[in-house]
Amino acid sequence: MEDIREQNKDAHLKGFVVDLSSFRSILEFKSSLEKWLMDSDMHSSIQLLINNEGILATSARPTAEGYDQMMGTNYLGAFFLTKLLLPLLKTSPVGSRIVNVTSFTHRAVFGAQINEDIVTGKCFFRSKEYPCARIYQYSKLCLLLFTYELHRQLNLDNKPGQVSVLSAHPGMVKTNIMQEVPFSLSSIAYLVFRVLGLLQSPENGINSILDAALAPSVSSPAADSAIELE
Ligand SMILES: NC(=O)c1ccc[n+]([C@@H]2O[C@H](COP(=O)([O-])OP(=O)(O)OC[C@H]3O[C@@H](n4cnc5c(N)ncnc54)[C@H](OP(=O)(O)O)[C@@H]3O)[C@@H](O)[C@H]2O)c1
Repeated sequence: MEDIREQNKDAHLKGFVVDLSSFRSILEFKSSLEKWLMDSDMHSSIQLLINNEGILATSARPTAEGYDQMMGTNYLGAFFLTKLLLPLLKTSPVGSRIVNVTSFTHRAVFGAQINEDIVTGKCFFRSKEYPCARIYQYSKLCLLLFTYELHRQLNLDNKPGQVSVLSAHPGMVKTNIMQEVPFSLSSIAYLVFRVLGLLQSPENGINSILDAALAPSVSSPAADSAIELE
């Protein structure tokens, strides 16, 4: 916020704390946001929502509502937040946008049965080991499918709608995402990505998300891709 204020001293800023793995916290956030918009006499709308949050958990942990924390954070939280904020995105006086930060790792999912057990992550509590990479991949696939389907529903009949929904993959970037992975393993992984020329700087990684958020016009292959994935 300080950086933004340095560039624009008139910026009207407010930070909120929200735990996206908790439905209660998301509901509280929505109320606080609406109250702030009303108290500050601003138009009650949102132009841009970026669902960037994500974790790579290495152990099974239930959220407050009893879901797997990785599915809860990476997918269910983003889904619930988006659904709650949709009315504010729809009332924006200019076209609004939702950007979901996904990952190419969803391509590793084959023959998946996306059912309630997987989406809530409850089935993983029953398995002996916690297949963390697989759950991460599932969570990102669910987020991608949600992106396609929400965009399709909001832009039916090829008529561009008020809200566009996009996904962006930042590439392989050295961030805190591997903080739960043993240091020796994450170091090897980053070394391999670097040698293969796949490791992006955070400045480059953020570009795809900024493009998706700010490019003046976007066309989404949502309908085609959704058919392909079916
Ligand atoms: N790094 C990569 O190579 C890579 C590749 C593909 C996709 N991605 C995706 O990029 C996104 C950003 O990840 P990153 O690489 O920047 O990792 P990161 O440095 O670990 O950042 C993760 C972000 O998620 C937030 N977060 C985690 N749990 C949360 C929760 N329960 N409620 C609210 N916020 C929560 C964190 O907030 P706090 O800092 O406050 O905890 C942090 O801002 C993720 O969706 C990740 O899956 C990353």
